[in-house]
Parts: sequence; structure tokens; C-alpha cells
Amino acid sequence: MFIVFEGVDGSGKSTQLSLINKYLTEKNIPTYSTREPGGTPVGEKIRELLLDPNFSEIQGRTEALLYAAARAQLVAQVIRPQLEQGTVVLCDRYIDSTLAYQGYGRGMEIDFLAGINRLGTGGLAPRLTILLDLPPEEGLTRSRKDRPADRLEKESPEFYRRVRSGYLELAGQNPQNYLVLDARLPVEELHRHIIQAVGELAGV
Ligand code: TYD
Repeated sequence: MFIVFEGVDGSGKSTQLSLINKYLTEKNIPTYSTREPGGTPVGEKIRELLLDPNFSEIQGRTEALLYAAARAQLVAQVIRPQLEQGTVVLCDRYIDSTLAYQGYGRGMEIDFLAGINRLGTGGLAPRLTILLDLPPEEGLTRSRKDRPADRLEKESPEFYRRVRSGYLELAGQNPQNYLVLDARLPVEELHRHIIQAVGELAGV
């Protein structure tokens, strides 16, 4: 089973991902956690390029293709082989990040983005996407506390508002495959909601 966590920067995805990973592992369910962009040696190199604040000249299409390239590598090298072994794969960001950031955020054509990602991943879609919905200003203050801003965090509040509403629109188009949670809820409460949804799917 393939489960994806989505949300604006600083929405608490990685915290919730590691909590559910721990929970499933304690129930003896094999899990594998990964993240985007990255998750493979090739993908981590691409990630360095994408997040480097010195590369402000990166063009929209270049950026989108780089994300899709890192994703293609992750799907082929890690996600598909893990799923074939019956492992629950938990991924921090997937195609919806591209649709939300490059599509709704930067205004690139959704069809182009969906197309390159369908080709790159061979059409692999998550069974469940957990969207941690957060007013963007709050996300930015949270994630900026401990380190300098990366290239994407230099975007305007307006950009993050578009990303957020893009995510909500994607979830609304396909509600049976999404769990939308208010990321401002306490960590423990979010975890309980996630246990309920994932537990049902995993049969625990
Ligand atoms: P990361 O440090 O992983 O952010 P977070 O911890 O918030 O997940 O950086 C990933 C950045 O890349 C983040 O700002 C979102 C952005 N991104 C895209 O714009 N498009 C994509 O397809 C992906 C996967 C990420």
C-alpha cells in the first residue's frame, strides 16, 4: 500500500510520517519511509540542485522536469520494488506537490505536469494521500525557525496561498483517496486520525 503525505512547508508532515511509521512497525507491518525530492542517491543530487538558493535562474519547465526525474528514479528504484514485496510505503510528498507548487503556485499547465509525471511514474498513484492543511503564513514561520530559507521558501505569501488552495482543490476532486486534516490540531490528535484511516486500510 502506497501512502503519501502532502502539505505546505512546515505543516508537520515528517512528524506525522514518522509517528505512523513507528505505529505500523510496532504492529509488525513492514513499512518503508521516503521523501521527495530525494529518497535515492540520484534523487538527492537533484534535490540539491532544486533547493539551492543560488539557482534562481531555474526555469519553470526545468524545475518541473527535475522533480519528475527524481520521482521517476524513486518509483523505479524504491517504491515499486517495496510495494511488490507487500511493504507499506510512506512518502513525504509526491505528484500532488508538483501540481500544487508548480501548477497552482507557479501557474504552469496542469496537463503538462500531470503528463510528465504519468510518464515518469508509469501511472503509480497512492491509495491514500494525507493532506495536512495549514494557513501558509503559519507554516513558513514554523519551518524557518531553525535554518536559513531554501530556494522555495523565498516565495511570497501569495504563492503559498495558491499552493494551499491547489491542494484543497486536488483533494476535493478525488475525496475517496484523501484524508484532509487541519495541521493546527495537536500532534497526538492528528496521529489518532491518521491511525484510524491507515489502520483501516492496513487491516490493523
Ligand atoms: P523540503 O525541505 O522537503 O520541504 P518540506 O520539509 O516542507 O517537505 O523541500 C521540498 C520543497 O520542494 C518544498 O518547498 C516543496 C517543493 N516541491 C515542489 O515544488 N514540487 C515538488 O514536486 C516537490 C516534491 C517539492
